[in-house]
Amino acid sequence: MSLDKVLAHVDADQDNALARLIELLKIESISTDPAYAAECNRAADWLVDDLKSIGFEASKRETPGHPMVIAHNDKTDGTHVMFYGHYDVQPVDPLELWDNPPFDARVEDTPNGKVIRGRGSSDDKGQLMTFVEACRAWKAATGSLPTNVSIFFEGEEESGSPSLVPFMKENAAELKSDVALICDTGMVEPNTPSIVTMLRGLVGEQITIKGPSKDLHSGMYGGPSINPIRVLTRALGALHDDTGRVTLDGFYDGVPELPAQIAEQWKNLDFDEARFLGDVGLSKPAGENGRSVLEMLWSRPTAEVNGIWGGYTGEGFKTVLPAQASAKVSFRLVGQQDPVKIRDAFRAHIESFLPEDCSVEFHGHGNSGASSMAIDHPAFEQARGALSDEWENEGVFVGCGGSIPIAGHFQDIIGTQSMLIGFAQDDDSIHSPNEKYDLRSFHKGIRSWVRILAALN
Ligand code: BES
Ligand code: ZN
Repeated sequence: MSLDKVLAHVDADQDNALARLIELLKIESISTDPAYAAECNRAADWLVDDLKSIGFEASKRETPGHPMVIAHNDKTDGTHVMFYGHYDVQPVDPLELWDNPPFDARVEDTPNGKVIRGRGSSDDKGQLMTFVEACRAWKAATGSLPTNVSIFFEGEEESGSPSLVPFMKENAAELKSDVALICDTGMVEPNTPSIVTMLRGLVGEQITIKGPSKDLHSGMYGGPSINPIRVLTRALGALHDDTGRVTLDGFYDGVPELPAQIAEQWKNLDFDEARFLGDVGLSKPAGENGRSVLEMLWSRPTAEVNGIWGGYTGEGFKTVLPAQASAKVSFRLVGQQDPVKIRDAFRAHIESFLPEDCSVEFHGHGNSGASSMAIDHPAFEQARGALSDEWENEGVFVGCGGSIPIAGHFQDIIGTQSMLIGFAQDDDSIHSPNEKYDLRSFHKGIRSWVRILAALN
C-alpha cells in the first residue's frame, strides 16, 4: 500500500531530512532587525531551491519587506491544500543565556530524548520542514503527491506581517484553495496530537513618555521635576484591577463566554495546570480570578508589558532623573474584540495619566483580531483521524494563546478555512534562549503530514 511505502521512506530518510533542516537553521533570518534582511532573502532562496528540487514550481515574490515564497505542484486533481509556514525567526537576545550559538544548529541528547537545538528549530523552520519532507517522501516513494498541494512561506510573521495583507489581496486568486494548512502551533501534551480551533489576536503598542528637556540630576531637580518613569509605571500599573481584569474602557466588549461544549472538551484534556506552571518556576495562576489556566490562555484576553526602560540601567548606580521613559505593551484578543478600539482605549488610558509638562508618543506594532475555525469542514475529522493513527493518543481540538495573523486572513481575504496542526511542545522555549524541537516532533510530524495528505485527498 502506498501509505506504508511513503512512511517507510520517511523513516529511511530521517538523517537526510535532519541535515536539510540544520542547513536552513544556520541561516540567520531574523525579520524584525533590518541588519538581517539579506539573511531573510537567503532563507527564501534556500526554500525556493529545495521546493524546486522536489518538483514544485516555486518562486520568490518580492514585497516592500521580506519576500514570500510561493510554490505549486503539477497535480491538479484532489483536494487543493495551501500549506503555510514562516521562515523568519525571533531575535536571539539575551545571547549570553544560550549554551551554544543560536544559529549553530545541532542535535543534542537530553534526558527526554534527542532534540534539534537552535533559533527557529521549533518556531517555525522545523515545523514547516515537516510538511516539505512529507511532500518529498510522497514524491520519492510514489512519484507524485496524493492531492493538489500549494505552499506559501512568509518571512515577516515574527515582526507583525506588514506585507501580508496587501500581498494576499493582490494574489488572492492564486492563493485560493480548498483548505489552508498551518504548521505553527503545538501539542497540548507530548503524545496528544492537537488541532487548534481558536487563536488569539494581538495588538502591539510602543509608548514613550517625555518630561524634562534633558536628563537631570535627581538631587538638584528631584521633587519639583516630573519623572516620566513614575508617570509610565502608574499608568501601566493601572491596566489591571485586583481581580486580574483589564481596566481599559470597553475592553471586554465582544469577549464571549466559552460555549459549554468547548468548556467540556477542554476539561477532558489531559492538561496538568500545576505541571504547566511548575515547569517555568511558578505555582499560582495570575490571570483573572475564577478562570482555569486553559481559559486564561486560550479564551480570555490579556494585557502584558513586554519591555520597559528609561533612566540608568547599567552597572553601578546613577542618580538620574530621566527625560523620558518607554514601554512595549501587547494585548491578546479573543472573540470579536476590535483591535482598533483596543488600541484607541489604551492610548486614551495613557493620556488620562499624563500630568502637565509631559507628552506621549505612540507607535503601533501590528494588530490582528482573534480567529476561530469552523470545525464542521470535513478536513478537520479527516485530519484528526490521520493524526490519531500516528500518535499514541487520539487527536483533540484545542485553543492556542499565541497569534498567527494569517489564519484569519485566509478566511477574510481568500475565503478559505484554515486548519492549524503543529508538533511543538510547551518546553520548546520558542522566542527564548536554547530553543529546541524534539527529534520525535520532527519525525512524527513528517509522518503525520504524510497521513493527512492521504486523508484529505
Ligand atoms: N508560532 C507562534 C504562535 C504560537 C505561540 C503558537 C505559542 C503556539 C504557541 C508565532 O510564530 C508567534 O510567535 N506569533 C507571534 C505573532 C506576533 C509577533 C504578531 C505571537 O504570538 O507573539
Ligand atoms: Zn511561529
